[in-house]
Amino acid sequence: MRALRHIASRVSLRDILDSTICQDVFAVLPFLPSGVFDLIVADPPYNLTKSFNSNTFRQTDMEQYETWLASWLPQMRRLLKPTGSIYVCGDWRSSTAIHRVLLRDFEVRNRISWEREKGRGAKTNWKNNAEDIWFATCTDAYTFNVDSVRLKRRVIAPYTDERGNPKDWEATRHGRYRLTHPSNIWTDLTVPFWSMPENTDHPTQKPEKLIAKIILASSNPGDVVFDPFLGSGTTSVVAKKLRRHYVGVEVDLEFCCLVERRLELAAVDQSIQGYTNGVFWERNTLAEQIRGRERHPVSTIGQPTFLDELGIAE
Ligand SMILES: C[S@@+](CC[C@H](N)C(=O)[O-])C[C@H]1O[C@@H](n2cnc3c(N)ncnc32)[C@H](O)[C@@H]1O
Repeated sequence: MRALRHIASRVSLRDILDSTICQDVFAVLPFLPSGVFDLIVADPPYNLTKSFNSNTFRQTDMEQYETWLASWLPQMRRLLKPTGSIYVCGDWRSSTAIHRVLLRDFEVRNRISWEREKGRGAKTNWKNNAEDIWFATCTDAYTFNVDSVRLKRRVIAPYTDERGNPKDWEATRHGRYRLTHPSNIWTDLTVPFWSMPENTDHPTQKPEKLIAKIILASSNPGDVVFDPFLGSGTTSVVAKKLRRHYVGVEVDLEFCCLVERRLELAAVDQSIQGYTNGVFWERNTLAEQIRGRERHPVSTIGQPTFLDELGIAE
């Protein structure tokens, strides 16, 4: 296992490239170099009382949470290249504060809402089933690889042209499919659960598929991705699988060990569940993905190995 990093003075990008810094991010930020990251994925504690192993985040009022966000989020601008992008995750409570703080230093481009299909029902409220991810950039010159994040969907209305040929869809042995451009509503994600290979004991682990969409859209191979609240390491792991460089900061030692273990596994298995043959698939399409792979047996980056997915709900 690679040694975890601890930083006590200024470092260059080369010093920290492809590493996990096991430390409080507030102690680390002043020492990080300026203008070096292409993409930042930030999944901070939401404004909820939540235990993250050795540390607990305590819910505060909105004003204080916004002040807390403002104590680190503007610093992300210094770390990014002028062409860089940032994505910040939140729930419905914290989302508006994230938006307001981002507006001060960034060009806010979009709010993605994604459906969590896991979670408890509420008796006196709507079940909390969605989360937000704010997408912002430093300038108008930024990377957005829309063709890398297309979604393969079953066709419900198979329109044809005057000659009877499919309009923008393909008829295969296994059904009719269309490759659609991604929208800002993501309903194809599965929150990691016990039988998924990517699952860890981290309480708020994000799906690899979710982070893959962000990394593929907003960076290129060889770019550097930074995550200031790394958790179980999903950002670094997916960056590695997709041939990007990564730097992550996580304060909890046990979580840092999870990260290193996952990074070791990523060296031998680059699969990302739900991302096959260069496209994202809807939920519950595992059988179709496997059949699709039989037709495209050539291995590509991010393509799950056949055995990994057998018996795994998608
Ligand atoms: C919402 S979780 C991130 C989950 C991550 N996206 C994943 O997929 O596993 C937030 C993480 O930030 C860490 N954290 C909280 N405060 C921190 C700080 N001041 N410095 C570094 N890490 C911190 C927590 O330990 C927790 O693991």
